[in-house]
Amino acid sequence: MIFVSSANLVPGMCLGRNINFYDANTYAAVGLKAGTKLTDVIITQMKRADVDGAYIDDAKSEIRVISSINSEIKNEALSGVKNLANDFMSGGVTGDDVEEIKDTTEKLIDNLSASSDIMVNIADIKMYDDYTFHHSLSVSIMALAIGMEMGLNHQELNELGLSGLLHDIGKVSIPIEIINKPGRLTQEEFGIVKMHPVHAANHLLERRLVPPNCYYGIVGHHEKVDGTGYPKGLKSDEIHLYAKILAVADVFDALTSQRPYRTPSPPSEAIEYIMGGTGSHFDEQCVRAFIRKVAPYPVGTVVQLSNGETATVMANFPDQPLRPTVAVTGRPGVYYDLYHDMNCLSIVITGICDTKLAEENKTPKAVQVK
Ligand SMILES: [Fe+2]
Repeated sequence: MIFVSSANLVPGMCLGRNINFYDANTYAAVGLKAGTKLTDVIITQMKRADVDGAYIDDAKSEIRVISSINSEIKNEALSGVKNLANDFMSGGVTGDDVEEIKDTTEKLIDNLSASSDIMVNIADIKMYDDYTFHHSLSVSIMALAIGMEMGLNHQELNELGLSGLLHDIGKVSIPIEIINKPGRLTQEEFGIVKMHPVHAANHLLERRLVPPNCYYGIVGHHEKVDGTGYPKGLKSDEIHLYAKILAVADVFDALTSQRPYRTPSPPSEAIEYIMGGTGSHFDEQCVRAFIRKVAPYPVGTVVQLSNGETATVMANFPDQPLRPTVAVTGRPGVYYDLYHDMNCLSIVITGICDTKLAEENKTPKAVQVK
């Protein structure tokens, strides 16, 4: 059973738990029992009532569902990272700060572990303000998903998730003008930026606030497997696994985020960038796990196709995140399986349509993918 946000609910999903809400349109309390199959009408009612989402029984659902992180846990993580950053700025992170974040990491793992068949819903974890803090949370979630795919045990996942939440804490000591500078950094400015993994990691290790493995994850997240990264220019085998995983999650989130100096890249381009950097920037095993765990086009997303049509994503395939099955807008019953169907080889997804378009276009019925 996994939690799916209302924006990503699709007809055919099966409720895993009872939900109750008030529909202001019909002046009626609505009670839905576990086992109810969602319909367009129910989903519209839930969105109208501002219901966050619902627990979905993935085994009984007619379609593949995608993991979504509970918003309460996300807010808890953000506040924990902010508290720790404030204490870091004022000279001393405490054990309580770290304990708070460890608790949150445990909850993130529980949330992500709720289904063995998870894919991370990119749209769900992306947020656009307070960049460093939200970035830390996104990186942690994505790193955990990669770590789970690579078979890390519970303790390792805890250390990895914690490293993700703390990896950029050192940035709060860099002048904001440098962080947000639109143009190229001077050598001196880049020298300052390059120290952010070291500052944070040293601060935490000296106070024995994190285990050594977390230290290696944090300090090494900008290293590259060919030895051209920073701060030490370590090569493949010298870089800790957590740092290699964080490097993939970090770059993907940075590329797909809105920044003062650049517009976000579409997830498909960011995935291609990461695939292109395999073996030079990124570790091959980590990239493979990442590809299996990202869902740049979650179920329900309305996408633009290269043939001029728009379509709604109906199902994803773990090895081919850029080629889901889609239902063509305005052509009931017409589906393109972009992965398996040879007739669809020339069709690619060129972008995500405005979400308002999704509301205007009636979502077609879900299909089971073979
Ligand atoms: Fe960083």
